[in-house]
Amino acid sequence: MTTVSIIVGSTREGRFSEAPARWIKNHLDQRPGLATRVLDLRDYDLPFFDSAMLPGIPGRPPYENEAVRRWTQQIGSSDAFVVATPEYNHGAPAVLKNALDWVYPEWQRKPIGFVSWGSVGGARAVQQLRETSIELQMAPIRNAVHIPVGAIFAHFQGKTDEVDAALKAQDDQAGKLIDDLLWWAHALKAARKATA
Ligand SMILES: Cc1cc2nc3c(=O)[nH]c(=O)nc-3n(C[C@H](O)[C@H](O)[C@H](O)COP(=O)(O)O)c2cc1C
Repeated sequence: MTTVSIIVGSTREGRFSEAPARWIKNHLDQRPGLATRVLDLRDYDLPFFDSAMLPGIPGRPPYENEAVRRWTQQIGSSDAFVVATPEYNHGAPAVLKNALDWVYPEWQRKPIGFVSWGSVGGARAVQQLRETSIELQMAPIRNAVHIPVGAIFAHFQGKTDEVDAALKAQDDQAGKLIDDLLWWAHALKAARKATA
C-alpha cells in the first residue's frame, strides 16, 4: 500500500483550501493500491520553529512537543504528498512553510505535488515551494493544478456549485499530476526499500 498525504496549506477562518483538498483526495481515492489521508494544519498546533536541535541533525531525538511529534510521524509514514496551497504575498503561507521546516529526513526521497489557487493560480507560491522541497531532498512534480481566481470569488460568495464547476474543469490536469506523482512514489519507495 502506498500512502499519499494531502496537506491543507491554510488555516484561516473561511479558507478556500478545504474544497480543493477534498477534490484532489477524491481523485486519488479512485486509484488502486493507495491509502490517502488529509493532513490539516489546523489539527497540528505547531509552534513557530523554536527547536535548539536542527531537524536534519543525524540521530535527532524525538521532538518533545506533542503536535510536532504527531506531524513528524505522519510525514515519516507517508510515501508521497500533495500540498493544497494558497499564495500569500507571492509565497506560501507562513503556517505551511513552518510545517515544512519542522521536518527533514522524513520528507526525503519522496515526491510532492501541488494544487494551488490565486490571481495567477498560485503559481508564485508553488515556485517557492518547489525550491524549498528540493532543499528537503524531495522530488517536486512538474505537472500541477493551478485553480483560476474565479473559484475563490465564487467561494467568497458561497456559490458552491461554481466552485465545484471550477474544480471539475481541472479534472484532466489532476489526472496528469497524479499519474506523475504515483510514478515517482512507486519508484522512490522501491529505491528507499532497496537502500534501507
Ligand atoms: C495574507 C494574504 C496574502 C495574499 N496574497 C496573495 C497573493 O500574493 N497572490 C494572490 O493571488 N492572492 C493573494 N491573497 C488572496 C488569496 O488568494 C485568497 O485569500 C485565498 O482565498 C487564500 O486561500 P485560503 O482561503 O485557503 O486562505 C492573499 C490572501 C491573504 C490572506
